[in-house]
Amino acid sequence: MKHLTFKNGDQIPILGLGTWKSNPGEVRKAIVWAIEAGYRHIDCAAIYQNEKEVGQGIADAIEAGLVKRKDLFITSKLWNNAHRHEDVLPAIQKTLSDLRLDYLDLYLIHWPLAFKSGVSFAQKREEFFTYLDVPLTQTWEAMQDLKVKGLAKHIGVSNFNQNKLKEIMGIGGQHPEMNQVEMHPFLPQEGLVNFCLEHGILMTAYSPLGSPDSRNEKHVEDPKLLTNPIVKEVASKHGVTEGQVLIAWSIAREIAVIPKSTNEGRIKENFEASKIQLDDHDMMELRDIGVSHRFVDGTFFTGTNSPYKLSDLWDS
Ligand code: A2P
Repeated sequence: MKHLTFKNGDQIPILGLGTWKSNPGEVRKAIVWAIEAGYRHIDCAAIYQNEKEVGQGIADAIEAGLVKRKDLFITSKLWNNAHRHEDVLPAIQKTLSDLRLDYLDLYLIHWPLAFKSGVSFAQKREEFFTYLDVPLTQTWEAMQDLKVKGLAKHIGVSNFNQNKLKEIMGIGGQHPEMNQVEMHPFLPQEGLVNFCLEHGILMTAYSPLGSPDSRNEKHVEDPKLLTNPIVKEVASKHGVTEGQVLIAWSIAREIAVIPKSTNEGRIKENFEASKIQLDDHDMMELRDIGVSHRFVDGTFFTGTNSPYKLSDLWDS
């Protein structure tokens, strides 16, 4: 398994298990299957509302002697309702308690926008904080304190564009060590990848398979990544599955990738993708796939009642 290396020499396995949309009733077993299959990197978040069950799965695997805590790389994310300085420590403490851990390997600011405390999903104008109420730099300072306290070995962000990264880097101190964003051949994010590379920020690709289980009602009209003819052609050339091609594409670009599955067979299948070597021709074909699409478009945060605009999220 390839790894990516942080500035202090710590490593993150390039392939991890995603847990967004993993049902609480299924994810405990999925974690054990994944660890049995060889995964050592698990991507979590408080808002996935399954961290207790993920924690049970991790505890099961450790108790069964499959793995030691120090050999796992566990990521979680700070939800939008805990961006004020005083809310950040209690948020990681809750996640650590749910996951049954005493530290995270990586903790990320989930989105560059804030809701008021106690609001899970802001709908009304008064449920949001604005950037004047809670600047991102305030949250980033609190994240740095977590690293000093040893509660998170590494800290970073998710869904941050170049301007937002510049804003939090502008206060000096620790730079974000990771930016986790949606990435796949329909959204290769070349500009952002280059920016992160220049600034020593590692990247993780979420929704690498195009999130076919999205509950967003607009999703039926979305282009389909797993059945795209170019993806199919590359899969058939290597005698592998379309899902494996999409995972191997990210690994070939030195970008960590976290396909979600709660199915034992697909968990194993996805892990095997780390052994596939795509060649320059495959990468060129996938680069020229001719479809451009963002599945997680952020419109759920930027409606008429929100102080945030899509331009706060994505580079134009
Ligand atoms: P399941 O959990 O039943 O395996 P993404 O990571 O892009 O959000 O995609 C996750 C979705 O893709 C889930 O619906 C998951 O279903 C499905 N999935 C996971 N691995 C594969 C695969 N190798 N081939 C096809 N679908 C997959």
